[in-house]
Amino acid sequence: MVHESLVNVISLNGRRAVVTGAGSGIGRAAAVILAKAGASVLALDIDREGLSATKGVASQVSDVELDVATVDVSDLAAIESVLSDESLDIVVNSAGIMAPDSLATTSGQDWDRVLAVNLTGYFNVLKSAVPHMNRPGSIIQISSMMGHIGLAFPAYTAAKGAILSLSRQLAGELGPDGIRVNSVSPGMILTGMTQDDLSDGDQRHRIADRTPLRTVGAPDDIANAVLYLASDLSAFVTGTDILIDGGLISTLDL
Ligand SMILES: NC(=O)c1ccc[n+]([C@@H]2O[C@H](COP(=O)([O-])OP(=O)(O)OC[C@H]3O[C@@H](n4cnc5c(N)ncnc54)[C@H](O)[C@@H]3O)[C@@H](O)[C@H]2O)c1
Repeated sequence: MVHESLVNVISLNGRRAVVTGAGSGIGRAAAVILAKAGASVLALDIDREGLSATKGVASQVSDVELDVATVDVSDLAAIESVLSDESLDIVVNSAGIMAPDSLATTSGQDWDRVLAVNLTGYFNVLKSAVPHMNRPGSIIQISSMMGHIGLAFPAYTAAKGAILSLSRQLAGELGPDGIRVNSVSPGMILTGMTQDDLSDGDQRHRIADRTPLRTVGAPDDIANAVLYLASDLSAFVTGTDILIDGGLISTLDL
């Protein structure tokens, strides 16, 4: 039983949150957990069916408030239009795509599209949301363990490293104005993005065997950190990153 005083600190009653990439995986889990904690949530995604499914998941919990809107985060004008009447306390950037290619196989178009969603998409949401944010406010950016190490794929890894830098820069710029900015770096999490790789049992077990906690992660493992960073429990936390990878990169066996 959680003490009532602790529930009050975690409670997001009366707060408005926007979550991108909320039609699947980590974004969906973040949107649902913020709504369960009492926030009124605006869930954004390019995938209308994904958003319907997220609404379905949220509606299984009584008293949650979750609105949805279909939008492409790489389109600044579209994001500005969706957020123009908002009064926001929490912003979660999670929409992302993968490009599993080496430098040799990454075309200019691949590079541009990954950067347009995974980096410029985050900028577009920040640019549109911050003018509509209340103080104190909290911004949470989903990066990746790939942003910390030289693994994976050129465009994806570059964008995720840039999100770590961007979050630190904005923490300095927006902190004096009452807005905290942090990132969360997931390790291997079973979501739409990784399902092709991780639904193969051999591959999943191979990764789990190299992970100190001997499992891949679930979207809720990341959403729990998003809840912490959105709530007053993290009132003195800004400019930092929470790496949630089951210990994988602390012991990478090269
Ligand atoms: N799954 C992992 O192992 C893992 C690891 C590290 C980081 N991440 C990051 O977590 C975030 C969420 O990914 P996920 O694993 O939940 O993947 P996912 O594919 O399940 O969800 C990503 C969501 O983003 C949406 N999206 C894609 N392009 C969009 C656009 N242009 N505009 C709006 N929405 C768009 C998709 O429709 C999808 O619903 C991503 O930023 C990803 O890079 C994931």
